[in-house]
Amino acid sequence: MIDRVYQSNLDLELLFCTNVLKLGSLHYGYSDTPEKLDMARARAAQTRYTETLLTSFPAEVTTVLDVGSGIGDNARAMADHGYVVTAVSPDANHETYFAAHPHEGVRFVRSKFEALTLAGPFDLILMSESQNYFDATVGFAQVRRLLRPGGYLFISGMLRVSSERAFASVVNVEADYLAKAAAAGLTVVSQVDITDNVLPTLEFAQRVLKEHVVPGVDVFTRYVSSTGGFASRLVKGVVARVFRKPMDALIDHYAERVDPAAFKKHVKYVRVLFRLEQ
Ligand SMILES: C[S@@+](CC[C@H](N)C(=O)[O-])C[C@H]1O[C@@H](n2cnc3c(N)ncnc32)[C@H](O)[C@@H]1O
Repeated sequence: MIDRVYQSNLDLELLFCTNVLKLGSLHYGYSDTPEKLDMARARAAQTRYTETLLTSFPAEVTTVLDVGSGIGDNARAMADHGYVVTAVSPDANHETYFAAHPHEGVRFVRSKFEALTLAGPFDLILMSESQNYFDATVGFAQVRRLLRPGGYLFISGMLRVSSERAFASVVNVEADYLAKAAAAGLTVVSQVDITDNVLPTLEFAQRVLKEHVVPGVDVFTRYVSSTGGFASRLVKGVVARVFRKPMDALIDHYAERVDPAAFKKHVKYVRVLFRLEQ
């Protein structure tokens, strides 16, 4: 079931962030302390994530390619700081959003990074929680093509600590990913582990899942099962097969994804600044 979801075009994690958690950005956020988040604090953590991201950019950077831009909050913040930003995402909804919210200094290109045909060169390529959406080797080849010599790649996102099955949707394993980057001529300038700064967001998502999503699914199933008659028995069968079972599998899957202890055991949230050879 989970494999089918990941093979489909439906990005449930994005839907969970936007439609269930009602967050305005598509990243985990950054908490300074082990705070307990509510909706307002989760949004503040997301703003802080972008602010702290920008403080890591080298001074000589002007042009930025924002790979997997989501709905553009990082891109707009970068433009407000004077960067000239090209935002890329394959999602048609993101294209619609960018068209409806034009912003000086930001242009949007709808494309998968692997298929991007822009010429470049850029001073910095940002992958904020997007590096697990495409093959790393193909991605690094594009980075080489699109960066100026001595330009920077900055990733802020999740890497798995080992190749165990848990958290397999975090496709890239840290050691393997860094080795592929090195083979592409990218040297690590700095690496910061911010796992503890994203855990409050996970704890918040875990609470929403337990307190809202699970009871919501339960109420829906009970409602459908509460009416009598043949039609209802039919609907009950369909609900059990088509809705409840897959939903339970998904809830189990996400229960692990948002479990702070399991996350910390299997995943690192890192910020790595690479520099391309001259
Ligand atoms: C978790 S969101 C992160 C959004 C944004 N960078 C942020 O930090 O809020 C992942 C983004 O990667 C995009 N994406 C998915 N597949 C991609 C691909 N093959 N190439 C480029 N971007 C991709 C998604 O559409 C989405 O915009």
